[in-house]
Amino acid sequence: MARILADPALYAYIDDTPLDEEQLAARYESQTSRWDSATTKWRNWVVRLKPAQCAIGYVQATIEPHECILAWVINPQWQGNGYATEAALGVIEQTYAQLGITRFSSTIDRRNAPSRGVAQHLGMAIAAERCGTEDYWTMDME
Ligand SMILES: CC(C)(COP(=O)(O)OP(=O)(O)OC[C@H]1O[C@@H](n2cnc3c(N)ncnc32)[C@H](O)[C@@H]1OP(=O)(O)O)[C@@H](O)C(=O)NCCC(=O)NCCS
Repeated sequence: MARILADPALYAYIDDTPLDEEQLAARYESQTSRWDSATTKWRNWVVRLKPAQCAIGYVQATIEPHECILAWVINPQWQGNGYATEAALGVIEQTYAQLGITRFSSTIDRRNAPSRGVAQHLGMAIAAERCGTEDYWTMDME
């Protein structure tokens, strides 16, 4: 994953930086233990391409009792193929089916056109402006 997430271009609109393998492993360990509380769960799905199953990115879900907050990252080589949309849809369907969560959301920098495109494909709409350049997008399952 460290190699997949190494391109600095991925961090133009998200508050993060590339990490080496050791740093990334430490982060996953720390975030898992910090977030997996009674009220909030933190989940990461690695997005893999069939048939070789090579990793191309991830979808992250912060799962609260009544809301699942999503973020998505796809390696630049694989962007523009609908993979973020397809992967996020899979996470939404699974989270809805397994946990009964009906509200899905994402906080997106309004200059981030590809990420806004993903949110729109998922059926999200802007519910509120966040501080600075970010919007809060939401979608409720029927
Ligand atoms: C956001 C991101 C995950 C999208 O990945 P992706 O696999 O390319 O996304 P998809 O192909 O599913 O959909 C992107 C949509 O945005 C559109 N899009 C891409 N670049 C665009 C641009 N510059 N202007 C307008 N629309 C754009 C795509 O055309 C596509 O819509 P379409 O299917 O109608 O053509 C990827 O660009 C990324 O990793 N960015 C860096 C990390 C990031 O900012 N994550 C967001 C955190 S919330």
